[in-house]
Amino acid sequence: MEPKSFQLFPEQASTFAPTVDALYAYLVLVSAFFSLLIAVLVVYFAVKYRKRSADDPIPAPIDEHSTGGMILEIVWSAIPLGLSMIMFGWGASLFFTESRPPADAMEIYVTGKQWMWKIQHMEGNREINELHIPVNRNIKLTMTSEDVLHDFFVPAFRTKSDVLPGRYTTEWFRATKPGKYHIFCAEYCGTKHSGMIGYVYVMEQAQYDQWLAGGMGQGTLAEQGAQMFTSLGCVTCHTSDANGRCPNLKGIYGTMVALQGGAKVKADDAYIRESILYPEAKVVEGYQPIMPTFKGLVTEDGLVKLIEYVKSIGPKPGSTTAAPSAAPAKAPAAGSMSAAAAAAQSHE
Ligand code: CUA
Repeated sequence: MEPKSFQLFPEQASTFAPTVDALYAYLVLVSAFFSLLIAVLVVYFAVKYRKRSADDPIPAPIDEHSTGGMILEIVWSAIPLGLSMIMFGWGASLFFTESRPPADAMEIYVTGKQWMWKIQHMEGNREINELHIPVNRNIKLTMTSEDVLHDFFVPAFRTKSDVLPGRYTTEWFRATKPGKYHIFCAEYCGTKHSGMIGYVYVMEQAQYDQWLAGGMGQGTLAEQGAQMFTSLGCVTCHTSDANGRCPNLKGIYGTMVALQGGAKVKADDAYIRESILYPEAKVVEGYQPIMPTFKGLVTEDGLVKLIEYVKSIGPKPGSTTAAPSAAPAKAPAAGSMSAAAAAAQSHE
């Protein structure tokens, strides 16, 4: 479906779209109502209380000797307070919903770079300025930038998030209609900022599986990460026995790691990324800071693969599959969570 040339509103193509539009309509209606009310009253009072002749008496101003209208003042304070509190509560709850990706979301990595979007799927598929996703699935984007600030914006989904160099941000959505939707960069990032655009292709699951199968061949991200782990020589120190000179990475993902000096840090994407680029920043308790930096040697795309490799050798709590799998991971139903967790534990 080609986007129309002019529309007042973008299409509603995600679960967020109707709620964001409803909040927007509320803001516009409240603002329009009060703007109109005030404008009409200004004109009405100006006419009604105008000075009619030179000897019209000047009315006494309201001061401590005259009472004014207490009830009127309470009413015109309480009603706007209530209306603005609705804005605050509604907006905050939407913000929290959009900021917290659901646990069952399908993960995709996005790297922004002057001036393009590079996208990597778990299964190993890569694309530029295009994002193919299945309809009616929760999708979580983990995003970073190779240079300056960018912002990944899909108007039809009513969601956007800044993409920052040096850290991971996330954005999630659930597309509700198959189709083709604009991606924009929504943060001025240099000469060709306006050209940093692309399309999301929302497909039926079967169609998506077909598309996915067409781009495989290099192996999943985790498999490519495993190759890098060997080719970069990581494997010589991070051996899987306890006597290695560097910590054994098996099973660390998602756990708390004890650091020198007594602090603890969660082994998440950000920690692994930092440890590859700035190994001396957080040294694990009982180890020497002997690891060289891989800054400049590993690109953002490569970091993502290494992170996926570390994830693949250490199941994060609640996930059903420990090993990398070519098939898209199916989200466990709420009821099967405890059974899956028990099964994962019995493997150890
Ligand atoms: Cu990237 Cu603007």
